[in-house]
Amino acid sequence: MKTKSSRSKKSPANEALTRRDFLKGASVAVSGGLLAAQAAGAATPPAEVLGPGAVPITLRINGKSHKLDLEPRVTLLDALRNNLDLTGAKRVCDRGVCGSCTVIMDGKPVYACNVLAIEAQRHSFTTIEGLAEGDKLSPVMAAFINHDAQQCGFCTPGFVVACTAYLQKHRHPAREDVEKGLGGNLCRCGTYAGVREAVLEAAKTM
Ligand code: FES
Ligand code: FES
Repeated sequence: MKTKSSRSKKSPANEALTRRDFLKGASVAVSGGLLAAQAAGAATPPAEVLGPGAVPITLRINGKSHKLDLEPRVTLLDALRNNLDLTGAKRVCDRGVCGSCTVIMDGKPVYACNVLAIEAQRHSFTTIEGLAEGDKLSPVMAAFINHDAQQCGFCTPGFVVACTAYLQKHRHPAREDVEKGLGGNLCRCGTYAGVREAVLEAAKTM
């Protein structure tokens, strides 16, 4: 049986920390690999310099291609919100901590504030705006309403997107797995219990 102390070890904040540690480790590994290749005398092609002015960028969002002119420093989150009027993904921490900006990239949830728009060109994205079919709510959206899984609602789009991506990979999750699987999203209003119930209900209908 799960104890309170064991739950605290798997709190959302700790889970998010684990993801960040992984990303830090991955970047160190990539840098190390490049240095090793240079030390071995491997020929490295000259890097193409883009910017600092706007450059043409094409983003594939919710099944449609969008051509934009953006500076290379612009994040996917800012491109969505400021250039495409897709404001469902929220900017809260803007540093890969809270999950309010979560979108699905090639089937995996990512923080849109952590992805540069120029890098996003190689991928396909689904945002909260792409989950409903017209006026018909997605199973996760409907389950969030049924279980009152939001209060102020600011974190809710990110949670709905993260829950959708989670259920696409885990069709029959156990309650404790849901808690762990959504560790990358934080809710200041503390709606976690309702969110977990919503995921378990949506799992039955997806
Ligand atoms: S706004 Fe992107 S993770 Fe918080
Ligand atoms: S519902 Fe308010 S931050 Fe989550």
